[in-house]
Amino acid sequence: MNILIIGGGGREHALADKLASSSLCTHLFISPGNAGTALIGQNLSIVVDDFAAIKTAVLGNAIELVIVGPEVPLVEGITDFFSHDEVLKNIPIIGPSAEGAQLEGSKAYAKEFMGRHGIPTAAYKSFAQDQLNEALDYLSVHAYPVVLKADGLAAGKGVLICHTKEEAQYEIREMLSGKFGSASATVVIEEFLSGIEFSVFALTDGNHYVLLPEAKDYKRIGEGDQGLNTGGMGAVSPVPFVDKEVYEKVVRQVIEPTIDGLRVENIKYRGFVFFGLILVNGDPYVIEYNCRLGDPETEAILPRLRTDLVALLMATWHGTLDKMQVEFDARFAVSIILASGGYPEAYEKGKVINGLDLIAGSRVYHAGTTQKEDAIVTSGGRVIAITSLASSLEGAIEQSLLNAETIQFEGKYYRKDIGKDLMERSRVNGER
Ligand code: AMP
Ligand code: GLY
Repeated sequence: MNILIIGGGGREHALADKLASSSLCTHLFISPGNAGTALIGQNLSIVVDDFAAIKTAVLGNAIELVIVGPEVPLVEGITDFFSHDEVLKNIPIIGPSAEGAQLEGSKAYAKEFMGRHGIPTAAYKSFAQDQLNEALDYLSVHAYPVVLKADGLAAGKGVLICHTKEEAQYEIREMLSGKFGSASATVVIEEFLSGIEFSVFALTDGNHYVLLPEAKDYKRIGEGDQGLNTGGMGAVSPVPFVDKEVYEKVVRQVIEPTIDGLRVENIKYRGFVFFGLILVNGDPYVIEYNCRLGDPETEAILPRLRTDLVALLMATWHGTLDKMQVEFDARFAVSIILASGGYPEAYEKGKVINGLDLIAGSRVYHAGTTQKEDAIVTSGGRVIAITSLASSLEGAIEQSLLNAETIQFEGKYYRKDIGKDLMERSRVNGER
């Protein structure tokens, strides 16, 4: 079968790699893809939300399965575009409807959904542009720190943690008057939760679901989780502190009520659900939902997947996920991101990447790379993800660090502490 992946980051390269390994996959297309996906499929130069061009590509290349990587086309309604089109409606596409994607596209929507289904999350109140005075009053009596969240998509930048009333009142004015454009026309003010974060992933057909392994992402640019937020600088899977007891609580208190909630509310959802969680005194709370797989979490999760991904995605489309067994490699996967110097602020592009052919014992997933004449050059903030599998967390970390050294480009930056906090925690708490 001919398959199209929409997107062009490390997540999409990891998806491409896994899909290409399936005997069900004939030709793979990636739009727009990167220099890595070009090695295993055909890149199509289409931006992710040009639905008309995607339709032409789907029909022109006899595509029989579409997987949507990033959130923007989902929130903009790509699966509804397919289901409302006489020709496209029978072509399997993996991703929620625009309404389902609101779980990520609107923080206020997600909070209300959790409220209706008794899903644990921080206490909150949301305020629209004409409610500045109410928001200021609310902040004058709130406990600190407090969390301010732009309601809409803000490329991971729309969350501020404010430590004083003055700071919060300043920021709420800025946000409601357009600091994040229309994304902050509504702001959610929520209670600050103190705990340790991790993520779990489910694939649902709208009625049934299968679980994918959990992962821990490292969002900050600096070692020791210091500095600015990024898209993610590394990921580890499995997460040693997510033991059977924690996972069972997550399933019972978060995943099942979410999937049931989507079903009873008749929200069309055939795709991945990403649960961003925080463990507070042993209990999970939802920090956020995403309507897609994470990046770089995917680069740590998919190498562990043993079940045929094409078969899983077709079962998702046909509503038969209850018939599927999902199997995983028990080893640890550690993915480390090599980024352009300066990211997540301004950085230069076009730097020649050397050493890709010298990698041994790790997988290399391209993110911001492009082919320029004979060379592969940087074209984004996050450039390469290096993933290693090993029976110990330490072994996987060391292997990824070794290959992080092997790849060279001017300005290369990466965190050398990915996963090391988990090793220390495991040592102290006797976790796996
Ligand atoms: P989000 O974009 O919702 O994932 O938020 C970005 C980051 O802000 C999260 O990964 C957390 O580290 C932090 N955060 C968000 N909400 C809260 C909260 N209620 N309490 C503590 N930290 C939070
Ligand atoms: N790594 C976090 C995300 O994909 O949103």
